[in-house]
Amino acid sequence: MAAGHGDDHAHGDLPTRFYLFGGKGGVGKTTLAAANALRLAAQGQRTLLVSTDPAHSVSDLLESKLTDEPTPAGDNLWAMEIDPQADAEAYVAGIREDARTAVSKAVLPALDRHLKLAVQAPGTAESALFDRFTHIMTWCPDRFDAVVFDTAPSGHTLRLLTLPSMLGAWVEGLAGQRQKVNKLQGMWRNMAGVQEPEREDRVLARLRQRAERFATARQRLHGEAVFHPVMLAERLPIEETARVIEQLRDTHIPVGAIYVNRLWPADTSSAFVTERVAQQDEYLAEIHTRFAAHRRIEVAQSARDIVGRDQLRALAARLPSEPPGH
Ligand SMILES: Nc1ncnc2c1ncn2[C@@H]1O[C@H](COP(=O)(O)OP(=O)(O)OP(=O)(O)O)[C@@H](O)[C@H]1O
Ligand SMILES: [Mg+2]
Repeated sequence: MAAGHGDDHAHGDLPTRFYLFGGKGGVGKTTLAAANALRLAAQGQRTLLVSTDPAHSVSDLLESKLTDEPTPAGDNLWAMEIDPQADAEAYVAGIREDARTAVSKAVLPALDRHLKLAVQAPGTAESALFDRFTHIMTWCPDRFDAVVFDTAPSGHTLRLLTLPSMLGAWVEGLAGQRQKVNKLQGMWRNMAGVQEPEREDRVLARLRQRAERFATARQRLHGEAVFHPVMLAERLPIEETARVIEQLRDTHIPVGAIYVNRLWPADTSSAFVTERVAQQDEYLAEIHTRFAAHRRIEVAQSARDIVGRDQLRALAARLPSEPPGH
């Protein structure tokens, strides 16, 4: 295996099933996620590519009309595009449905006002997205062998990835509280001699279900996922990637190969390019030293933007064919 393959990428016996691509805006996450999805599909794995990009760039890349449900996009390949805003609205609507059975009619208008604000509140979109992620993860391995997540920029992504433990604890706390309330209500009923059978607590059931799904997702992210940081050989991305890797260590998500994308080809006929390449070489040397514990995949910049299946396939062919997840 290539230089210093990361020891923190230790899966034991579980196969890698979830591939996450993260990095700053415009570094090539969507492009590399799509190229890797193509590659996994070509290896015979039923592969689902999930994009959260509101710009519909995966539709453009694959030249197929995608929806928010898996749509066939080639041999062994399916793709879907999630609109985080629409998801957040649906998520909040779901919470409203749950809450309606739990609160009195008089409070409903106030609750609605609150939920309307909640759709825009920071964190709601992430929660909704993570909810969707955990749901998609349950399709694997029955419907799909591999799921490639073309993630949003890294800060956002990282918060997303730390959410399972936070949300899990939060949901557990809430569920515990509701159970206490239910018990109290039961005692009241007994004391008052009311015999009416306890209504099924839908809210509690849903919270439990969600908590279980989150716990499973977190476990699978630790055991069956790999996060590929994508970066450029430039000053700021180096620092950003170092931060991302540190945060990933805290969230116990295995870090796979680092993609150093869009490298300048040497061109001695141009003083400008020669200078760019000289600087790039300095940064590459630094990247090798600072990320020595990780495998690195260097990807040369194509002359043109990568659009359409043919170019995507050409890029996929340029990627090293190594066992998935490494
Ligand atoms: N190796 C490459 N060679 C040439 N062009 C590339 C390469 N990698 C990416 N690009 C181009 O760079 C642009 C940005 O790539 P991409 O959309 O994959 O980035 P991204 O990280 O998903 O961006 P965003 O953060 O906006 O979602 C695209 O136009 C893409 O075609
Ligand atoms: Mg993108």
